Amino acid sequence: MLIVQLSDSHLSADPTRRYRDVDADTRLTSMLARVSRYQPDLIVVSGDVSDDGSSASYQRAAASFDALGCPWVWLPGNHDHPATMSQVRALESVIHSSGWQILLLNTWIEGEEGGRLGEAQRAQLEAQLASDTSPALIVLHHPPVSVDTDWMNEIGLEDREAFWAVLGRYDHVQAVLCGHIHHEMTCLHRGVPVMSVPAIAAQFVPDRPDFAVDACAPGGFRLIRLSMEGMRQPRLSTRVEYVPV
Ligand SMILES: [Fe+2]
Repeated sequence: MLIVQLSDSHLSADPTRRYRDVDADTRLTSMLARVSRYQPDLIVVSGDVSDDGSSASYQRAAASFDALGCPWVWLPGNHDHPATMSQVRALESVIHSSGWQILLLNTWIEGEEGGRLGEAQRAQLEAQLASDTSPALIVLHHPPVSVDTDWMNEIGLEDREAFWAVLGRYDHVQAVLCGHIHHEMTCLHRGVPVMSVPAIAAQFVPDRPDFAVDACAPGGFRLIRLSMEGMRQPRLSTRVEYVPV
């Protein structure tokens, strides 16, 4: 199974409105043109689809994803408006394919840049992992780990310790994918790989204490291949592909 992770398109109701000096609609179009070469089995969009939470932005994004002709799902980021988003396409939480389970989490908090799972969703995650022991890939918008960018750490996942406490009780979570930080990152946290993806729209400059945007940096997407081998051993391979601006 080939999954493409996309993130942070930051579209607005007005398609001519720029996001951090970038034409977000044009970036999305060129990104999806490259994605279409791979004919993925599933596209997962990990939040900040919209910059203003407008219905028009979700409808344009959904039409673009539909045009690829493959299944796709999305989850909300801090810039999204989940209720408006779900009127255009429902927010799914579990997908099964190729012997894997893909768990989509909602970390949105109204009016805040940071994210939180909350007690109810953590209990739901625990129940899912307890009842289904197939290899799991978790996707959420906010990184549940510290990153090498100080300002970003203040707006990550607030209840990350409780999240990792849940994961620590099971051994079948194979990887965690996130967006939000607008650049590529990979780290190993408590034995689980955690990976982010470049934004579709403008990239943030990593590894510096203050906020900075590189409007000339290429956006990108993550390719994730999931399979089961031999004695039901899960295999995951992944890489990021950059798309020149
Ligand atoms: Fe974003």
